[in-house]
Amino acid sequence: MDELAGVMDRHARAVEAVLAELLGAAKRPQRLVEAMRHAVFAGGKRMRPFLVIESAALFGMGGAGVLRVAAALEMVHCYSLIHDDLPAMDDDDMRRGQPTVHRAFDEASAILAGDGLLTLAFAVLADRKTEARAGRRSKLIADLAHASGIDGMVGGQMLDLQAEGRFDASGKPRRMKIGAIRHLQALKTGALIRFAAEAGAVLAPRATANERRALKIYGEKLGLAFQIKDDLLDLLGSALEMGKAVAKDAAAGKATMAGLLGVEQAEALLAQTGEEGIAALRAVFGARAERLADLMRFNARRSH
Ligand code: IPE
Ligand code: IPE
Ligand code: MG
Ligand code: MG
Ligand code: MG
Repeated sequence: MDELAGVMDRHARAVEAVLAELLGAAKRPQRLVEAMRHAVFAGGKRMRPFLVIESAALFGMGGAGVLRVAAALEMVHCYSLIHDDLPAMDDDDMRRGQPTVHRAFDEASAILAGDGLLTLAFAVLADRKTEARAGRRSKLIADLAHASGIDGMVGGQMLDLQAEGRFDASGKPRRMKIGAIRHLQALKTGALIRFAAEAGAVLAPRATANERRALKIYGEKLGLAFQIKDDLLDLLGSALEMGKAVAKDAAAGKATMAGLLGVEQAEALLAQTGEEGIAALRAVFGARAERLADLMRFNARRSH
């Protein structure tokens, strides 16, 4: 596990250097750029960039292009967090141990900082420096657009708010079955994580259909396991360690596995989902799958 922590740290630094370069190029409007930087450089586990780097490494790929894909994805993730925290959404004051962007700045600046990160991410992907082959480059752009948009994160966020009963006359949370919660979570959290897992195979010239499929399954399982863990930590974790408020989901009537199944069964589902993801990867990549297997185990044990 220590070895994984060291590698995660190394990858986080590498992607942060690229993020600093990409965001450093933008100088004005100063307030907007500062709000974007506040969101991006406030810490964070950088798990999605780690996944991009390690999925590319499975095919012997690395270097500046891979780091730019990782940085673009992290920008989309940071934008999703800024908007998720807005008063109109989850109304949170703390994120990554710092005041949320709308708290440190104001709501309008937070909305625009999110918009700025989202669009910059696509400008980065569209640049030849990220990937010289036009076909691969446009696949990366299309895949990230799908993962971020209505059949991905944004659609999932809408389902998440609807599940709270926000737009119903009664205002009461909707009763949801496990399949509906799984679908909601696969969109709101899973889609970006799956993009990260599959990105390596998009960049690799010779990835086989089996390899792509294994990464897709692993990405889907990690995405679900990740949100189950986030929900368990909301229920059981500490705000200090998490760097964000906890005990909010039940109060909001949010649809979660922990809420539906209870802690014990949600933990069992987390473990089972993790095993399935690891098995899919090992069946195709053998011993080379171990780094990503470690990441799956890291998710199950994390305290923030
Ligand atoms: C939090 O994501 C938002 C969810 C999708 C549940 P992370 O837990 O990856 O947040 P950071 O990037 O480490 O702050
Ligand atoms: C949000 O899920 C996932 C995103 C798309 C940002 P949550 O609302 O549970 O994330 P946290 O707990 O605020 O990080
Ligand atoms: Mg939310
Ligand atoms: Mg939230
Ligand atoms: Mg949460």
